[in-house]
Amino acid sequence: MTDSAVTDSERLRAAASSVLLGNWAGGSTVPSRTLYPHQWSWDSAFIAIGLRHLSPRRARRELETLFSAQWLSDGRVPHIVFNDSVPADAYFPGPDFWQVGVPGEAGLTGTSGIVQPPVHALAAWEVHKTDPEGSFGLGFLRRLYPRLVQWHDYLRVHRDLGGHGLASIVHPWESGWDNSPCWDAPLARINPADPTTYVRRDLAHSDAADRPTDLDYGRYVRLCTDYREADYDDTRIEHAFAVEDPCFNALLAVSEHALADIAEAVGADPAPHRERAGQLTSALIDRLYDPASGIFRCRDLRANSANGANGGDALIDELSASGLIPLVIPGLPDDIVRALLHTASGDRFGLGRVHLLPSYDLLSPAFDPARYWRGPSWFNIAWLFHRGLRQYGAEADAKQLREGLLDAAGRSGFAEYVDPHTGEGRGIRSFSWTAATTLDLIGDRD
Ligand code: DGY
Repeated sequence: MTDSAVTDSERLRAAASSVLLGNWAGGSTVPSRTLYPHQWSWDSAFIAIGLRHLSPRRARRELETLFSAQWLSDGRVPHIVFNDSVPADAYFPGPDFWQVGVPGEAGLTGTSGIVQPPVHALAAWEVHKTDPEGSFGLGFLRRLYPRLVQWHDYLRVHRDLGGHGLASIVHPWESGWDNSPCWDAPLARINPADPTTYVRRDLAHSDAADRPTDLDYGRYVRLCTDYREADYDDTRIEHAFAVEDPCFNALLAVSEHALADIAEAVGADPAPHRERAGQLTSALIDRLYDPASGIFRCRDLRANSANGANGGDALIDELSASGLIPLVIPGLPDDIVRALLHTASGDRFGLGRVHLLPSYDLLSPAFDPARYWRGPSWFNIAWLFHRGLRQYGAEADAKQLREGLLDAAGRSGFAEYVDPHTGEGRGIRSFSWTAATTLDLIGDRD
């Protein structure tokens, strides 16, 4: 490594650290001071993975704060935990909309009622490994292990809507890939909420061309309202939107592997977790792998149905990078690993020839380089795919992706996402998981 590379790394590390320190809100980190001023579930998991390099203590706190808002009734981990020091009109839909309290937690005003991808056990294990002494000394894993088990149980018991061993998402926001073209067909069946009944707050902070459309937003609000009216009880609602998503389930499988490691560390039996990880992997392959296109696809459980009534399922046509994320799962069959690598570096995703990894098929007419999850490259997705590449020995691709991520993060001021063709930053800046994944991968390079 040259002297100037050391200097560049140090400068980038300092800049990424100052984003995370600036976004620290006392018990957790906001994804963004402007657009996302509370705690978000899967953001916090990625943030903890970066924060551990700055302060393992804060990284543990990040996850513990999130799990302090876990629902006692069914073990779900809500996608947002609201902070009462933030003005009520700073974000929509806020606590008044969701109407979910957090009993006994000072400083937290409530939570949302939906979930986000289960990447938390993976994060907890990575955080633990950075400082095992501090972690053991303070009982971090011992406290978190039963909560992580309850969280996975919620998904296994309440969300296996297809009955084949995969968790379903019931709202596009639950995927984390909010406005992916994968949701266009299932969302088209949803009646949008009346736009005069709410005010979007996101457009005050970000360019409208980088955000979901008003029509999409109306449908998001409708799905949340229907769930709320059923008291978020999965047995009382026939979810009109129900999809098995490859990224969500791949993260569940990886987290189940991490849970086995955590179980071992706290003296519990790892075997059930390894078994579940294996079952999830088989179900993913059986239900979502499409050998003809060399990628996993989303399965719409309400396809062929009118008005959301259950009428049979079908794979969704769109090809999204969500279908490449199963590469993070250990022990995939060789032919699937080869196919995923081939698809990633082919014309649809252009790995190595575009900036990071586009969230959606570059060749599709629905591809949009600027609009949120309809094409832009995201840093957490690149971080996950980098992990998969390293796991399967694709070192040259991994190195290139890592260098691309560090370069794009620094150049864009830690943008929320970038245009895959130009590398230009999109969305907001000083975004926490961009800084966190940067800090983690700088460590990887040194
Ligand atoms: C938003 O508000 O756009 C979020 O992505 C949903 O959590």
